[in-house]
Amino acid sequence: MFAVHLLSFYFSKLQEDPTKKVDRFLYSMRLSDEQLMDISTRFSGEMKKGLSVETNSTATVKMLQTHVRSTPDGSEKGEFLALDLGGSRFKVLQVKVREDAGGGGVEMEEQIFPMPKELLNGKGTELFDHVSECLKDFLHQKNISLEDKHALGFTFSFPCQQSALDQGVLLNWSKDYRARGLQGKDVVQALTEAISRTGDMDIEVLALVNDTVGTMMTCGFDEKHCEVGLIIGTGTNACYMEELRHIELVEGDEGRMCVNTEWGAFGDDGALNDYITEFDREIDAASRNPGKQLFEKLVSGLYMGELVRLVVLKMAKLGLLFDGYVSDALRTKGKITNTHIAAVEQYKDGLRNTRDILLDLDLTPSSDDCVAVQHVCTVVSFRSSNLVAAGLAAILTRVRQNRKLKTLRITVGVDGTVYRTLPQYAKRLHKVVRRLVPDCHVRFVLSESGSSKGAAVVTAVAQRLASQRQQVDKTLSSFKLSPEQLGLVKASMRVGLEAGLKSNDPSPSALKMLPSFVFRTPDGTEHGKYLALDLGGTNFRVLLVKIRGSGSVQLYNKIYPIPLEIMQGTGEELFDHIVQCISDFLDYMGMKNARLPLGFTFSFPCQQQAIDSGTLVSWTKGFKATDCEGHDVVDMLRDAIKRRNEFDLDIVAVVNDTVGTMMSCAYEDPQCEIGLIAGTGSNVCYMEELRNIEKKEGCTEGEKGKQRMCVNTEWGSLGEDGCLGDIITQYDSQVDQQSFNHGKQRFEKLTSGLYLGEVVRQVLLDLTRRGLLFRGHVTEPLKTPGIFHTKYLSQIESDHLALHQVRSILQKLGLDSTCDDSIIVKEVCGAVSRRAAQLCGAGMAAVVDKIRENRSLDHLDVTVGVDGTLYKLHPHFSRVLQETVRTLAPQCHVTFVLSEEGSGKGAALITAVATQEQLDM
Ligand code: BG6
Ligand code: BG6
Ligand code: GLC
Ligand code: GLC
Repeated sequence: MFAVHLLSFYFSKLQEDPTKKVDRFLYSMRLSDEQLMDISTRFSGEMKKGLSVETNSTATVKMLQTHVRSTPDGSEKGEFLALDLGGSRFKVLQVKVREDAGGGGVEMEEQIFPMPKELLNGKGTELFDHVSECLKDFLHQKNISLEDKHALGFTFSFPCQQSALDQGVLLNWSKDYRARGLQGKDVVQALTEAISRTGDMDIEVLALVNDTVGTMMTCGFDEKHCEVGLIIGTGTNACYMEELRHIELVEGDEGRMCVNTEWGAFGDDGALNDYITEFDREIDAASRNPGKQLFEKLVSGLYMGELVRLVVLKMAKLGLLFDGYVSDALRTKGKITNTHIAAVEQYKDGLRNTRDILLDLDLTPSSDDCVAVQHVCTVVSFRSSNLVAAGLAAILTRVRQNRKLKTLRITVGVDGTVYRTLPQYAKRLHKVVRRLVPDCHVRFVLSESGSSKGAAVVTAVAQRLASQRQQVDKTLSSFKLSPEQLGLVKASMRVGLEAGLKSNDPSPSALKMLPSFVFRTPDGTEHGKYLALDLGGTNFRVLLVKIRGSGSVQLYNKIYPIPLEIMQGTGEELFDHIVQCISDFLDYMGMKNARLPLGFTFSFPCQQQAIDSGTLVSWTKGFKATDCEGHDVVDMLRDAIKRRNEFDLDIVAVVNDTVGTMMSCAYEDPQCEIGLIAGTGSNVCYMEELRNIEKKEGCTEGEKGKQRMCVNTEWGSLGEDGCLGDIITQYDSQVDQQSFNHGKQRFEKLTSGLYLGEVVRQVLLDLTRRGLLFRGHVTEPLKTPGIFHTKYLSQIESDHLALHQVRSILQKLGLDSTCDDSIIVKEVCGAVSRRAAQLCGAGMAAVVDKIRENRSLDHLDVTVGVDGTLYKLHPHFSRVLQETVRTLAPQCHVTFVLSEEGSGKGAALITAVATQEQLDM
């Protein structure tokens, strides 16, 4: 008390310039450039914290994603409704944006609606009901049709965590809003619900936009380089275009995104404590959000008038003003507002306005009092602009450094009553900014039309994206199969199986159902040393298989490439190549002279007359060597061995890969009676009752007495009669047309590795041509058949892969994609591969139900031996396949076992059985 008296005595005795008196009294509000640079550096550190994944959760400056990825480019167009809530005035607007029309091409109609104070602090639903009723009033008044659907951009000037443009969770209220029940909720949803409560309006909220962002976009519509938005109004805040790679919480590393800094919260963790005055503490303590938004409380319009009042009151109490007289009005919170400061700072009338204001407050000011109070306003508003300059300097420096520029040219779009109405404010701000960051050439542009024009531009982009999304979804929906469609596929498969078993059924629906001459699965007694060949999958392999009996099998194998020109050359060339590989293998194993029995896995449809002979019906997959179809492949192999005249081999069995796989798995699991290949091609074999197989030519009498025989269904040919017409898309037809075997293997072309990538490529080509992907550029890689191997599809669809990794896979394939492109590519791959797995599931359901019915069982337990790169590598294929079988064949419990060692082992087992049987005869 004594000290205060002494101070007032000291001041009153000094007859001096009243501004000096104020300067001394408010010395802590007067900030030097050095202090401002210090604040700027601190803010820079806060921005980094907000952007980093590790520190974001505890950061005070939140650096929120806005999902606005670019400033306007002139292509935005359309008619939109807009709401502007959270500034000093609540507005409803209609904005018409015309393409390439520049600023002049935007027409706006707006209406300000009152926002009753009690709504700010009432229930959130009531606040939004009011907003939506005003919207309806507006539509009525402006004769805007209530029946038509309208897109709406919602400027909502509070901190929202946005995971998309049309979604945003309110983190906390700021300024004088405190409505209950909205914090932590999605405000777009809350608004949408209010709109439906109000009723009779068809409105879709497409974009949620902070006022800073709206302002940046408004100014950006006319000014190319506007990449910062700044609000100094009721509250204060800034946004700017940040490099995506620095926004760690957002996936993607290319391009930019606008970040809403929410700088109002700077200092909430004490970072500004040494700059905060007793008046600021008082303001904070009496505010609706004590301890929060400290920077905002030093800067913005909601608090500035009150700050002046507290300073003047204190000075009066100390006898430094009004001879120590204090009126009740001066003691009353809220009696001095921002509007008063604007009047006080008027160039000519300022002093007179000051006197009037003080008189209104029941004070009798002297001229010195008026000068002093006017100066208090100046100090307070100057501090505000200085602090904004410090924050802005940090943003501009960051942008300059991000872009590795020596000097940055940039435009800042500004709005807010403080900036607009305080006469000296803008000038002072510009000057200080230029002093603090001389290496940034900044243009400040006042947002003449508020933030809604910008919000409409954002909404236009959102609408375009939504329509693109719709088109992509529609395209992909043709790959979605309903349970009914899958049921029909199962039924068609069943018809195909049955028809194929009949010897005299020429119906086009019949599958080949080729007898394999394998009558039983292994029983564990097999033993011996065998050679095996495995031709027709991704790799050609030569193997040595040692079966020791009692479950022990040893394999040695070598993979040999088959060059494309051999696959598509002459039959002689192909078989000579095979024999050359065998020769190499025998050398490699040091066993040229050992004449071993050989099992030949040949993964193409063969009409077998016995276990050791098979006529190639037709090539499938990528093979088309001439002079093979219609010939016995075992003969061709024998001829080639003779031609080489180097070694001799005893070819005992020719085996389809499905059969080899079934046998290989059955060696471990006696319940395995089905073989499935989901690889380059797609096929199934299973143990059929011999009585059902009418085509038994070639079977010996002894064989005819067996109970079952394994049948190679060649299910890949399903659909050649058109029965899959309903599910075949234009993309499938294109793939079919470009294949060697046009019109053939339709089911295989929907389900196997050789074709899935091609279907994906056709879809991508189409989406690109329609401008929905790769910015509409059809590049060479996209036109190149075969770029999407199963391996890449599998990688792209892997769940744990981040988007930028998908992008880098695509880049390796020569496809330069944005993150949005990568999302779409991943969806396309997903749709195509899911359909493939479901179709295989439907086919498998038909097979297991047939086996169950063959055996007149209510319930069947069966194991399927599986092989193939699609099944093995793809992250979802096997799960979807199995789910589908469960749904479509509920009476069967089907276990899938992966063939670990390939079908070569199975071929050797079959050879062992056949050799044994030969010996037995
Ligand atoms: C308006 C914008 O012009 O300025 C609003 O349209 C924004 O979106 C406002 O919130 C900020 O200023 P004030 O002073 O009204 O809070
Ligand atoms: C292998 C088998 O493991 O899988 C081959 O040994 C079979 O016989 C192949 O053809 C199928 O898969 P893909 O993906 O190689 O065609
Ligand atoms: C407050 C809000 C912020 C808004 C600013 C200006 O700081 O939290 O979102 O941009 O006011 O209106
Ligand atoms: C093709 C072949 C078939 C083989 C399948 C898997 O569909 O025609 O015989 O089983 O591919 O490799």
